[in-house]
Amino acid sequence: MIIGFVQTTGGTGKSTLALNTAFSKAAARHHDSIALVELDHQGTLRSWWEEREEMGYGSGKVSFHHISSTQKEVFQEGIKAITQHNDLIIMDIPGEGTGRLHTRFACAFCDVAVIPMRQSTNDENAFLDNLYPIIKDIVLAVPEKRGRFYVLPVFTHPLASQKKIHAYFKEVLPPHVTCLKAVYPARAVYENFNRRGLNLNEYAAVVASNRKYRQQVEKAVEDVETIAKTLIDIGRKKDDHAQGK
Ligand SMILES: Nc1ncnc2c1ncn2[C@@H]1O[C@H](COP(=O)(O)OP(=O)(O)O)[C@@H](O)[C@H]1O
Ligand SMILES: [Mg+2]
Repeated sequence: MIIGFVQTTGGTGKSTLALNTAFSKAAARHHDSIALVELDHQGTLRSWWEEREEMGYGSGKVSFHHISSTQKEVFQEGIKAITQHNDLIIMDIPGEGTGRLHTRFACAFCDVAVIPMRQSTNDENAFLDNLYPIIKDIVLAVPEKRGRFYVLPVFTHPLASQKKIHAYFKEVLPPHVTCLKAVYPARAVYENFNRRGLNLNEYAAVVASNRKYRQQVEKAVEDVETIAKTLIDIGRKKDDHAQGK
């Protein structure tokens, strides 16, 4: 199963979501080997992974891969090799501005493509201008890919009504794009957590003795688990459907 986080504008939490989904309990529960794949040439995750290795953290079922070539063949071979050795693949996919080919191929490969989007006309317009034309092309060329594109509302107010947020996106999203039944709230804990190569669960363990931090990070862990579970359930349903179950 391939789950991709796809960028429309920078800084919407894509890399953070990708790494924490790969290390989520929901992913580990259903998958034996998990590949976190970064296509973004900025290399945010590669630096983060190098820090993990320097610190000697074990990564369990999760392996890391960085593909920077935008050559179609290199990309396809790379993904093929990773799919042969892993049953869950989480991709961090750049937007049009940074890697035109990556975005197109990677979106076409995904079983579930997640577009993290703030509730802002800026993000909505960037999506409609940059990413939506690619989605339309893919759906037109391969009709089975319909229903694979999901917007995840991000940096929502932690106390905001999810129902209202979902109703809002339902209104503004074009055909073939659904709003995911989850949100990714803004939380202050992210200012500190991804330092020194940690993932969110490891950070939670580090701050466990500090009551204030612990409560904050627990909420963030819950957010990510809900998102990961929602995505993995969608992927599993699609798998079952494809296998005629
Ligand atoms: N839920 C969140 N709440 C607040 N800040 C967040 C959250 N998730 C990520 N961030 C912060 O937002 C910034 C951008 O996140 P990042 O994952 O690098 O986005 P992208 O990969 O889309 O550019 C980072 O500084 C990150 O720590
Ligand atoms: Mg990023």
